[in-house]
Amino acid sequence: MNGTTIDWARVRSDFPLLAREVHGKPLVYLDSANTGQKPESVIAAVDRYYREYNANVSRAVHTLGEQATTAYEASRDKLAVHLNVHRNDLVFTSGTTMAINLVAYSWALPTLKPGDAILLTRMEHHANIVPWQLVAGRTGATIKVAGITPDGVLDLDALYKAMTPDVKLLGVTHVSNVLGTVNPVREICREARSRGIITVIDGSQALPHRTVDIPAIGCDFYALTGHKMCGPTGTGALWARREHLAAMPPFFGGGEMIKEVRFEGTVFNDPPHKFEAGTPNIAGFIGLGAAVDYLDALGMANVEAREQELLAHATEELNKIDGLRIIGTAPHKAAVISFLLEGAHAHDLATLLDLEGVAVRSGHHCAHPLMQFYGVAATCRASFAFYNTHEEIERFVAALIKVRKLLA
Ligand SMILES: Cc1ncc(COP(=O)(O)O)c(C=O)c1O
Repeated sequence: MNGTTIDWARVRSDFPLLAREVHGKPLVYLDSANTGQKPESVIAAVDRYYREYNANVSRAVHTLGEQATTAYEASRDKLAVHLNVHRNDLVFTSGTTMAINLVAYSWALPTLKPGDAILLTRMEHHANIVPWQLVAGRTGATIKVAGITPDGVLDLDALYKAMTPDVKLLGVTHVSNVLGTVNPVREICREARSRGIITVIDGSQALPHRTVDIPAIGCDFYALTGHKMCGPTGTGALWARREHLAAMPPFFGGGEMIKEVRFEGTVFNDPPHKFEAGTPNIAGFIGLGAAVDYLDALGMANVEAREQELLAHATEELNKIDGLRIIGTAPHKAAVISFLLEGAHAHDLATLLDLEGVAVRSGHHCAHPLMQFYGVAATCRASFAFYNTHEEIERFVAALIKVRKLLA
């Protein structure tokens, strides 16, 4: 599909929830960085699974079981094509959190020793901090942090200087969920790799907004979540280099991840199944496959172009509001705007905006260290998706101006 020929109003109508009202006003949903809305095709795929072929996967030879397994594994194929990777290097997880924990427990815990260091950045989500702290606590490794500049850009000089020989692993987000900053992960991975450092990229906020070509990035691990990219909650994946998946022990065990179990010992299944114990979120992953189909039909380049337009419009309008400060003004951003309004608490602002039908998130956005850097407890965050409209941005800005007067 060509960007100029996309009817974005029609695209928006694919999302039934966006037609609802909140507090008697048409909903303006600006919280897609928290979770994205789902198109009809995703909802229908989940519904169809439960109505027509609900069965467990990889177990039963009956028709329903085969249909469920085929649809579930087809989603892995679709996601693999979307990311330009091999399907067997893609482990399904419940989301990014679980994907990063899988690296932490299956790669880092058996590998790291006292004297080793894990390098993180100031802009990481707690999901890319806390698992490493847990690992550090159990291995004796330490955590190092690379800083950012006040406009919310990674300080690359500082990052590369911090890549000392003790650093064994680098965790970095592809796109910041608070600042919107798009990090140059390709260059960062190249630098890390030349120093023998393993890279873990948190792709949660990248997948919804842009084309992600994992081999081009050159990382060791790439974690992602499905619910921010039009898919159901409880879906996600970890992509890993094949040699890591082959060498890593599973960190949880049970059915489906084995070839043979004896009380004397177990032979594990091949990756990715080796890391997928138990009954998975079958309906969710079938829905995720439909979400990938949906995004691929739109074209990620078109999605990105549309969102960049919305971001530019919203940034321009917000900059006109007296007393409003945008946190995160990197030159290369995804469609996420965190902001503060002088004299207004972020939660009060979000509550009053909700009364106007506008849904934004307020709080620390699971990024305490970033809030500490900016010296604030909370921000408001408006995050956009391709299904938002210019008219919604105007309604959001008008609501903000109204709320500002109320709070003055
Ligand atoms: C940058 C980033 N990393 C990790 C996560 C965690 O994702 P999930 O809760 O889906 O596991 C999020 C979700 O808010 C995020 O924005």
